[in-house]
Amino acid sequence: MKILIVHASRYGSTAEVAESIGDVLRESGHDVVVWAAREMPSPRNYAVIVAGGAVHAGHVLGDLQRYVAKYRGELASKRVALFAVAGNLRDDTEENHRQAEMALLPLERGLSCVARGSFAGAVNLRRMPFPVRFLMRLMKAVPGDYRRWNEIRAWASDLSARLAG
Ligand SMILES: Cc1cc2nc3c(=O)[nH]c(=O)nc-3n(C[C@H](O)[C@H](O)[C@H](O)COP(=O)(O)O)c2cc1C
Repeated sequence: MKILIVHASRYGSTAEVAESIGDVLRESGHDVVVWAAREMPSPRNYAVIVAGGAVHAGHVLGDLQRYVAKYRGELASKRVALFAVAGNLRDDTEENHRQAEMALLPLERGLSCVARGSFAGAVNLRRMPFPVRFLMRLMKAVPGDYRRWNEIRAWASDLSARLAG
């Protein structure tokens, strides 16, 4: 199956999650490409679109919102899976998953969503400019990489199984 993965990532951690999902889908035999949403790759030639974005200030990054807005008409006739990457999910609670998935809701309108995922992200101060580091300190964000790769890979395997079914 031809699968397009698009991601919106400011500091790279969501892009790496997208690549990992791509690796699993490829291992399952799919033909996968991974693009940044800001490049606006056309979904036309793909059967499935996996779209994921980092949550910043309670919202999925604007690049992904603009991507979905631009192609909503075409995406409506495809199978779409959405995921969010959020720092709050360092604490793996139901409430934090609910909050992260709430950020996906505006993207979902009119689409047939086959899967929805929310994953913990990473706070890597070295990748952030000084004012953002300062903001992170104000937000009492604890630097670290909280991505649970087993969870991400399991989600991608489950997605592959759903696509086959
Ligand atoms: C400016 C800024 C705002 C953030 N706001 C939130 C937020 O509202 N909720 C949350 O769960 N995580 C928040 N985070 C943490 C990010 O979701 C996390 O660091 C994510 O992995 C960043 O992805 P990226 O590296 O792809 O940009 C914020 C991070 C930054 C830098």
